[in-house]
Formats: sequence, C-alpha cells, structure tokens
Amino acid sequence: MEVKADSRQFHEIECDALAVAVFEGEKPEDGSLAEINKRSNGVIASLIETGEFTGKSGESAYVHNPGEMKARRLLLLGAGKKEEITADSIRKIAGTAARTLRGKKARSFALLRRSQLPIGESAQAATEGALISLFDPDKYHTSDKTENQLETMILVATGADSGDIHGSIERGRIIAEATNFAREVINEPANVMTPTELARLAGEVAKDYGLEIDVLDEARMKDLGMGAFLGVAQGSAEPAKIIVLTYSPKTESAETIAIVGKGVTFDTGGISIKPSDGMEKMKYDMAGGATTIGAMRAIAQLKPSVKIIGIVPTTENMPGGRAQRPGDVVRAMSGKTIEVINTDAEGRLILADAVAYARKLGATKIVDLATLTGAVSIALGDVYVALLGTDQSWIDQVLAAGKKAGEKIWQLPLDKDYREQIKSEIADIKNVGGRKAGTITGAYFIREFVEDTPWAHLDIAGAAWNENGKPHLAVGPTGVCLRTLVNLVCG
Ligand code: BES
Ligand code: ZN
Ligand code: ZN
Repeated sequence: MEVKADSRQFHEIECDALAVAVFEGEKPEDGSLAEINKRSNGVIASLIETGEFTGKSGESAYVHNPGEMKARRLLLLGAGKKEEITADSIRKIAGTAARTLRGKKARSFALLRRSQLPIGESAQAATEGALISLFDPDKYHTSDKTENQLETMILVATGADSGDIHGSIERGRIIAEATNFAREVINEPANVMTPTELARLAGEVAKDYGLEIDVLDEARMKDLGMGAFLGVAQGSAEPAKIIVLTYSPKTESAETIAIVGKGVTFDTGGISIKPSDGMEKMKYDMAGGATTIGAMRAIAQLKPSVKIIGIVPTTENMPGGRAQRPGDVVRAMSGKTIEVINTDAEGRLILADAVAYARKLGATKIVDLATLTGAVSIALGDVYVALLGTDQSWIDQVLAAGKKAGEKIWQLPLDKDYREQIKSEIADIKNVGGRKAGTITGAYFIREFVEDTPWAHLDIAGAAWNENGKPHLAVGPTGVCLRTLVNLVCG
C-alpha cells in the first residue's frame, strides 16, 4: 500500500473512504467535526444524538454517500479521551481503519489528522499502524486468502507542506515493512524455517540493504569452545548456525551495540520434552532472532551513527539419540561450566555463548530478545514484555525507546538474591532455578555470561504472539520490540 500526504481540505480528496477519529464526548460542532457534519447533512450529529456513537475506543460507524465531499464513504472510529491520545492511539486508529476498510473492499482511504501531536510523529505512527495492520498469516491457504486490495492511504494534512511529512512517512514505512518481514519469518512453520533457511534469508537482507554478514557453522563454534550452544544443537539433524549481521556507520563509532536474538526454530523441549498440546506454537521460538534480522534491515536503511551487530544463534531443540541429557555438564565459551538440569531451558544456553561472542566482537552494550520463559506470560500476560538487566542507565534507554515506540515493557528486579536458585552442586551454574521467579532466574543465567558489559534482556515469550487478533492486528506473530530496538539505536 502506498502512503502519501495531501495538503488540501478533506472534502477535496478523491478516495473510497474518509476515516475520522472521534473523541469520547465530542460534539458534532467541535473542531473539524463541524465541517464534516455540515457537509454530510448532519450524519455525525444524528449518530451522536441517538447514542449510537459516543467516541469510546473500539466503536465505529460507517456510512455510504456521506454528502458534499469527494470521499464515497465515511468511517468514524472511536478514539477514547482526547487528553489521552498518543502516537500509539494513532497507530491503532490507522490500523483499524485500514483493516476495516480493506474488509469493505475499499482501494483508497484518507485519514483525517485530529490530534495535536507533531505532524511528523503522527504521520509516522499512522504509516506504521496501517501497514502493520495489513499483515495476514494465511500464506498457506490455497483459497479464501486475504487479498490486499488497499492501494493507497492518504494522510490529510491540510495546509501543511507535504514535503515535510515525506521523511516521517518513509521512516514509518521502513519500520513497518521490517516488522512485517519479521512476522512473516516467525510465522513460517519449522519445516520451512530451519536454521539454514534463516541464515539464507539473513544473507538476502544483507545483500539487499548493504550489511556485512558472517555465518558461523558448528565447526567454527567448536573451535570457539561454544559447548553450551552445541549441547542444544547436538540433538538435531538440522545444522545449527550463528548469524552475524554488521552495520557500520560512515564515520567510526566508539560504541558497538549488539542485538542478540534467540533463534530456536523449533523447541520440542529436547529430552525434557514438552506436552504435545500447543507444541506447534514452538515454531515461534525464533521470534527474537527474526526480529533481530528485521531490526537490522530497518537500521541499514535508517543509517544511525553507531555500529550495530545483530547476532542470531539458531538451532532446533530436539530429542533423539544424540540429544543432550538432563544432568549433562557442558562448558560455555566463557569457560564456565553448566549443569543442564532441564533440556527445555535451552534458550539461555544458546544465549550464554551468543552474548559471550558479542563481547568477543567488541560489543560495548548488549541487548538481547528472546522467547525465554513461559513464566513471563504468568507474570505479565501477552501485554507487557519483561525487561531485566545489569546497567540501569542502559535499561532506562530501552524503557524510553519502548515508550516512544508504543510497546509495553516492564522492568523486573534482577536481584543478586536470585542467584541462589541457579547454584549447582557439581558445576558453576545450573540452567533452571525452580518454579519461583522463572523469568528472573532465566535472565540471571544469561547475566553470568555478559560479565561487565552493560546488558538488557527482553523476554518476549508472551507478547511475541497475538492469540486472538485485534481490530488493528492479525492473529499470530507481532514482531514486538522491533520498533523499540530501532528507536534505541537510531534515536
Ligand atoms: N521456548 C520456551 C519458552 C516459551 C514458552 C516461549 C511459551 C513461548 C511460549 C523456553 O525454551 C522454555 O521451554 N522455557 C521453560 C524453562 C523451564 C524449563 C525452566 C519454560 O518456560 O517452561
Ligand atoms: Zn525450551
Ligand atoms: Zn525455547
């Protein structure tokens, strides 16, 4: 879908539909509603007076032939309280408008600007919201596929110099397309999205957007002493990889930020096998890795002035004759020994070596994202991502980047008293810490391998998958944290 700005009055714009956000309690004579009401012969007044439409978030009203305007239909969307509107509300409104109008076979629609937010910020948010809303997970349907008929979204920016908005639309497009790319990759079944295929796709991204790429095979990992990663990979017939994408700015940067994403293309649990009910969902255990590749794709286009490395350790976690056993002791690249109590706590094992490798490549700051624990859904549901780390100022930067991105992130305490839970009798550390505080002990394990490098960890196991679908979002992979990461490194 093309997104463009138009500086004319809304009624002069030719399109299939005009989408208008209406705030809670707004009167038909308020602000720009007055002109729409007048031109539509009082449609807004009558919808409001009958109580049919109050502007509450989630409400909508749709009319054909709205009157003296070139739009052929009018879609009103409840936007909630005016004083609570944020860039994220705009994302949701634009997304709801795009998904709703596509369902009604519209090919073009205009979105009226109704908030006081800076025009660039709102144009970027609307672009992101609309493009992200149009993703659908039905690639493998051979009939009844969602056909993407929407061709154009016009941002009505009356009186503004549409040239000014162009850069914001472009930034929104880059971020949204990278998000949808990550979602497509996450959504692929594990028989398609193997570690080899993920590495091939990363290679395409590197080629198309000008990134450096290095893919480590198991022999190189062995030379590096990555016993924690290789212990997980040994049960699978699919060769494991570590994908390293590098973005280098034009002028040398003192800082190197590493983004590390868990890329388990299927998590059966290994010998500590998971129950079969719902196991099919474990194809999304590479969401952190796919989101890292997607973020690198956006970063390559947005060109920040800092060096960024994206690292994706990728493998399956399978049971089998060669699989590691509960009780095995492995030696990580850092030299620490690990007692593997539960082979299903594999994410932290592969990340232990991946963060150590990030340090070896010169990372001065690390952020990792991983579908690490089921426990995060118990704590925060699928609404918030958990954030833990070692350096409060780095953590605060991640929180601020998330806020700006409209992604919900909540910090949990990484108190040293939790270290007790992962003490092993026979090795330096064990890979599980019991039922209590599972998200924290999972993070604590990784902490032992980042040593003194400032580090932040995002547990996305809950928020990476949207179970039910929303008016502005399809069911399935969300690509959560991609926008946060891009904001974090691009400002
Ligand atoms: N991939 C899972 C975590 C997960 C669970 C992601 C549900 C998405 C949805 C992870 O590898 C795992 O199995 N974690 C275990 C850890 C436990 C054995 C300490 C878990 O959460 O049960
Ligand atoms: Zn697992
Ligand atoms: Zn896993």
